[in-house]
Amino acid sequence: MKLTNLLVTNNLNEHSEAFAIDVLTGLSAQKKSIPAQYFYDDIGSELFQKISQHPDYYLTKTEFSIIEKAALHIPKMIQSSEIDIIELGAGDGHKSKLLIDGFLNNGCKVNFYPIDISEKAMQLLGENLSIDTNLAIHGVVADYFSGLNYLKKISNNKKLVLFLGSNIGNFNQQQSGDFLKKLWLTLNQSDHLLIGYDLKKEAHTLNKAYNDSDGLTKAFNMNLLNRMNQELGGHFDPAKFEHYGFYNPTIEAMESHLISLEKQDIYIDSLEKSFHFDAFEPVHLESSYKFTVAEINNLATHNGFKVVQHFSDVNDYFIDSLWQVHKDFAAE
Ligand SMILES: C[S@@+](CC[C@H](N)C(=O)[O-])C[C@H]1O[C@@H](n2cnc3c(N)ncnc32)[C@H](O)[C@@H]1O
Repeated sequence: MKLTNLLVTNNLNEHSEAFAIDVLTGLSAQKKSIPAQYFYDDIGSELFQKISQHPDYYLTKTEFSIIEKAALHIPKMIQSSEIDIIELGAGDGHKSKLLIDGFLNNGCKVNFYPIDISEKAMQLLGENLSIDTNLAIHGVVADYFSGLNYLKKISNNKKLVLFLGSNIGNFNQQQSGDFLKKLWLTLNQSDHLLIGYDLKKEAHTLNKAYNDSDGLTKAFNMNLLNRMNQELGGHFDPAKFEHYGFYNPTIEAMESHLISLEKQDIYIDSLEKSFHFDAFEPVHLESSYKFTVAEINNLATHNGFKVVQHFSDVNDYFIDSLWQVHKDFAAE
C-alpha cells in the first residue's frame, strides 16, 4: 500500500496549530466545545475500532450487513472496467473491503484511495485489505477535502466516493449541505457517492449504543483530555470529569459531553492560558444526527445528487444511500 501523509509533507505544524486554535476557541466560548475530529489520535482510533465491534454498538454490524448485500449489486449498477474508490474517513476499512471485492469479482480494476486524518486508522486499514493484481491502494493521511483535492490532481477515472459509518451525522443540516456541495464540486457527472445514514429509532437503542457496557465510549471521550495533556501541555485530571452521552429528541441527535465534576481552573501550557470550569459545566464533544428517508432524499436533491437506491437492513436501523452526481442541478 502506497501512503501519502499530507499532514507531514505539507502542514504538520498547521495541523497541531489547528488543534491548539480549536481548543482555545472551544474552551473560551460561553458554551464549551471541542470538535469531534480530534477524537482520532492513535489511541482514539484503536478505541473506535473496539467500539465498532462491541455488541451494544449496532451501527457498524448493521452497516456491514447492508454492504455485504449491496456489494453484489453496486458494481453492476456502476458499469466500469476501472474505478477509483475514494473513502472519506476510512477507519479500518473492513466494510470498504466488501465493496472492493465486489468490483474485483466483476472483473473491474480498482484503485482504492482511503483518506483519513488518523495515520493509525490507515495502519489498521492496511492490515485488513488483501493483495490482488487488479487492486492498487494509495492511502492519504489528510482531512477530507485536502485529500480529495490532492487526488483530483492524480486521476481522472470514474469515481465512487464512500462516506460510511454515519460520519455525515456529525454535521448539522447546514454543515451537511455545505459538505455535500463542496464534494459535488470535486466530482463529475458519472461519479457516484455511497453515504451511510443512521436512521431515527427508539431512544433506548441509541443510548445503549453510545454508552456501551464496557465503558469503551467513555474511554474514547475521556481520551480527548489525555490528548490535550500530551499535545498541548494541558493539566486535565480525567478523574475530575465524567462522560455523558444521551439522545436529545429536540435536535434528533445523540450528544456526547464531558462534564466537569467540580469547580476547577485548568492551565494549558502551549496556550499560556487557564480555563475556568464551573462545577457540572459541560464540554460538548459530538452530536450524531439521526435521519428519516425523506431527509436523506432532500439532502441528495438539494445538493446536486440523484438518489439511485437506498440499501437498508432488516430492522430499518440504517441506510447506505447510493447517489449519482447531477451536474444539471446548478442550472435548476
Ligand atoms: C466514526 S469513524 C468511522 C470509520 C469508518 N468510516 C467506519 O465506517 O467504520 C470516523 C473516521 O473518520 C476519520 N475522520 C474524522 N474526521 C475527519 C476529517 N475531518 N478528515 C478526515 N478523516 C476524518 C476518523 O479518523 C475516523 O477514522
